[in-house]
Amino acid sequence: MRPETSAIRTRTERTGEKEHSTPLFLTSSFVYDSAEDMAAAFSDDSLDVNIYSRFSNPSVDEFIKKVCLMEGAEDGIATATGMAAVNACFMTFLSAGDHVISASAVFGSTHAILTKYLPKWGIEYSYFDMNKPETIEALVKPNTKLLYVETPSNPGLDIIDMEMVAAICKKHNIIFVVDNCFATPAVQQPIRFGADLVLHSATKFMDGQGRVLGGVVVGKKELVKEMYLYIRNTGPSLSAFNAWILSKSLETLYVRMDKHAQNALHIAKALEHHPALNWVKYPFLPSHPRYDIAVKQMSNGGGILTFELKAGLEGGRKFLNGLKWLSMTNNLGDSRTIASHPASTTHSKLSEAERQAVGITPGLIRLSVGLEHPEDIIEEILQALN
Ligand SMILES: Cc1ncc(COP(=O)(O)O)c(C=O)c1O
Repeated sequence: MRPETSAIRTRTERTGEKEHSTPLFLTSSFVYDSAEDMAAAFSDDSLDVNIYSRFSNPSVDEFIKKVCLMEGAEDGIATATGMAAVNACFMTFLSAGDHVISASAVFGSTHAILTKYLPKWGIEYSYFDMNKPETIEALVKPNTKLLYVETPSNPGLDIIDMEMVAAICKKHNIIFVVDNCFATPAVQQPIRFGADLVLHSATKFMDGQGRVLGGVVVGKKELVKEMYLYIRNTGPSLSAFNAWILSKSLETLYVRMDKHAQNALHIAKALEHHPALNWVKYPFLPSHPRYDIAVKQMSNGGGILTFELKAGLEGGRKFLNGLKWLSMTNNLGDSRTIASHPASTTHSKLSEAERQAVGITPGLIRLSVGLEHPEDIIEEILQALN
């Protein structure tokens, strides 16, 4: 089966009720036929039995299995949020005295883990500039264990050549982790380009309608096994209810991502030469600085675009206040188009220099393009720009 079909047809075994839609296993624990079976479930880790929903649950397993098939991964594990997935990656593979390399352009909370929490536990980090990939290899030390990137990055839409990064990681025996939240497996499969682990905030395009939080990590079996034990013991497991929602949503991920990307490209082209803007950035616009890499790695440009208002910080506030129906919220990857102004909101606590370092200029607007008619979105943006 092709991944598009797997995303629709993969499901838990049909029960005796002969239901067509996949059932929701809303249960905390599971029962045994005998005291011996119960004892075996606890003593033999290789047994494929459900014990407790912090460890495994059929609805969660269905969601994981679909993501594995879509990403081309051997195994996976799901978490309560995207940040739980990011944190579990660091906590599982890094110990005191280790070193991690990361792109500086990463999601704000990932930046907080790297810069505030990991150093507290004796784990050092080095940042590199996504636009200077030639500087990465010089950062490798004997204690470097993990390399982390988002591509495209949030919110700067920076893109990195994953094959090139994977070659460095392989040479130095470093675990290569890619946050694939912006592209989704419908658009890009980092494992094909050499990633060891791929993670997602499933809260975003995977849900696609702004309802639930979730995370997922897929990749090499032996790495996932270690993460499974960390999550099973420390508790940031995905709830069965959220997994059921997310698994149903994956059925439409491919068609949704096609439409998000069609709309985003159309809007990016329509805005590209607007006099109120310095620039428009979208992975599939030839003006994107890494357009060649984007078209190599991605099947479309995804659903996020950014632009810079000439009117700066105050212009950003005015633009948001000028919107009539487009949503003003910090989430992304929704059927409804969302505008956000990182400099006055999500990244307002960073210093000007820190914002500059990750490409957040005062007038930067991030648009998560929804599934509405593109002409309606364009008209709404143009009236706010005016
Ligand atoms: C690229 C990226 N990674 C991780 C996260 C964290 O995900 P969550 O909010 O589900 O914890 C986000 C959230 O916006 C994100 O955009």
